[in-house]
Amino acid sequence: MPITPQELIANLGDLPPLPQVAAQVLRLSADPDSTTDELQRVISTDQALAAQILKIANSAMFGMVREVKTLTQAIMTLGFSTIKSIVIASSARNLYKRGGTGLQERLLWEHALVTAIAARAYARSFRSPRVEEAFLSGLMHDIGKAVMGLKFPERYGAMMRSIYNDDADGMDSELDLFGFDHTMVGEAILHQWNMARSLENTVRWHHDPGHAPAEDQALTAFVALGNQLALDHNVGIGKPESLAIATQQALDILNLTAETLAGHRLVAVEALEADKNLIKDF
Ligand SMILES: [Fe+2]
Ligand SMILES: [Fe+2]
Repeated sequence: MPITPQELIANLGDLPPLPQVAAQVLRLSADPDSTTDELQRVISTDQALAAQILKIANSAMFGMVREVKTLTQAIMTLGFSTIKSIVIASSARNLYKRGGTGLQERLLWEHALVTAIAARAYARSFRSPRVEEAFLSGLMHDIGKAVMGLKFPERYGAMMRSIYNDDADGMDSELDLFGFDHTMVGEAILHQWNMARSLENTVRWHHDPGHAPAEDQALTAFVALGNQLALDHNVGIGKPESLAIATQQALDILNLTAETLAGHRLVAVEALEADKNLIKDF
């Protein structure tokens, strides 16, 4: 029997905070009155982040024709919502890398990024207006693993290694060992970070999209399919077969069969191909 959310928080203790710059960017991008100047000022306080935004603005991912040289230019060309995604991505990246235990850290982050790109491509392919949310949900979907890695380095590290080596099922191992799993921890940290409720939902239900609240089921299905595609491409820890139930639920939600999924899947695979350099460099 899984533990209650209160017990979960008691078990986890303090959770890593969202970096301050990211929190400020979130606040600014939610405020319709904020200006490019304000955003530029906040981001400039973190030179590593500013450099990363420029690099990404110039990557194949956004298909820029002209080179973007300044942060202001990057904000103007990419727009607030994309900048927000990049800043969140960068915070997530740091946490994934910190929470990784040895060989897994790179894999955990690449898996998140590949899932994000694939989830966004699925959202586009289904003409959903929620492409940006799909991307962020994909990035965050396994953030609970990073937190568990940080909180319980020995126990969680050993568990991850055994999954990596013997294909044990991740969710079952987590529940057996800890009484909770990474989807619950992910929901808890996104709640603390004040992220959108839809993001909490997709993270909480990405292994069980059929139980996501109705308004977020399709979005959760895109993440589940992205997750599956990432493992199919061998990016991550675990076997794609361990996601069979989630995948079937996603197909049901989107009214698809394995055959009718094929065209959408091709779009997602092409998106991964197009963003290959981003995945390598970010
Ligand atoms: Fe997961
Ligand atoms: Fe995953």
